[in-house]
Amino acid sequence: MRTSLFSRRTIRQGAVTAVGSAKMKLLLACCIVFTVIALAGPTASFLGWEQLDASLHRSSLPRKGYALLINTWKRNDLLKQSISHYASCPGLDSVHIVWSEPNPPSESLINFLNHVVKSNSKNGRSIELKFDINKEDSLNNRFKEIKDLKSDAVFSIDDDIIFPCSTVEFAYNVWQSAPDAMVGFVPRVHWVNIVKGHTDEYVYSGWWSVWWTGTYSMILSKASFFHKKYLSMYTYEMPSSIREYVTKNRNCEDIAMSFLVANATGAPPIWVKGKIYEIGSTGISSLGGHSNRRTHCVNWFAAVYGRMPLVSTSLKAVDSRYSWFW
Ligand SMILES: *[C@@H]1O[C@H](CO)[C@@H](O)[C@H](O)[C@H]1NC(C)=O
Repeated sequence: MRTSLFSRRTIRQGAVTAVGSAKMKLLLACCIVFTVIALAGPTASFLGWEQLDASLHRSSLPRKGYALLINTWKRNDLLKQSISHYASCPGLDSVHIVWSEPNPPSESLINFLNHVVKSNSKNGRSIELKFDINKEDSLNNRFKEIKDLKSDAVFSIDDDIIFPCSTVEFAYNVWQSAPDAMVGFVPRVHWVNIVKGHTDEYVYSGWWSVWWTGTYSMILSKASFFHKKYLSMYTYEMPSSIREYVTKNRNCEDIAMSFLVANATGAPPIWVKGKIYEIGSTGISSLGGHSNRRTHCVNWFAAVYGRMPLVSTSLKAVDSRYSWFW
């Protein structure tokens, strides 16, 4: 059903051209490499390149840093593991744990995390650690306003996903270039449902659809950077019916955030290429399933907005230091 939403013919032609140009580039790159090796000989100035590379690494350290906003639910081991990792990233400024469990965090958990954060605070840099304790268990909790936040950038993450620090810092750099955009690693897409002949009905599609078409219109908040202003907008300015929907259906807070940012900017989000390590047991969850409920959210939110604010794009930000040939 879903493949008939977009023209098969266009896709096939696109794929052929893409493969063709990839081969051309590979051929071209091989020619260039052989020429460089032949001309430069054994005394090549690769050493100079390495020094330049090292100085670039140093100067690209972010100055202001970002806040880690981590959502967790009864998985203290995963929480410990991911905070231990992210605390070692140089740009991290503070850690905010969204806590919605009925029991408050245990003494031993607090001590452990304080120790982790302290041992990673060096060079006059201290990482702040805070629990945001919530009485009500709602998915809206993860977007509550954070008072007195020093950094503008929020890195929102689930407790079971780990990215290498270099990947996080790269995404942070991309966000600095577009601080109003949502910048992250997990893209999703909505399609207009042409099959039924309605132009105002939408379908939510997961990873395979994005992979097949290279098009996306949302970046999920389980792994993304966004400006802290969107937190207060989510709680105080977004229509309350959307927050009520999220609480009641226990789903789609991330889609609601995508709608909010798209409506505010009129622009698409930015997908950053990055290697994801899922440390929880449910590794498959992010790949498929529960599409019908998500489709319902998209249509419901579009009705509240009175239009479809999401904007599609096919841009992908890639760290050029790690991309070979093209
Ligand atoms: C969408 O953005 C416009 C312009 O910023 C704003 O006036 C409007 O309230 C927003 N719509 C919703 C449903 O939040």
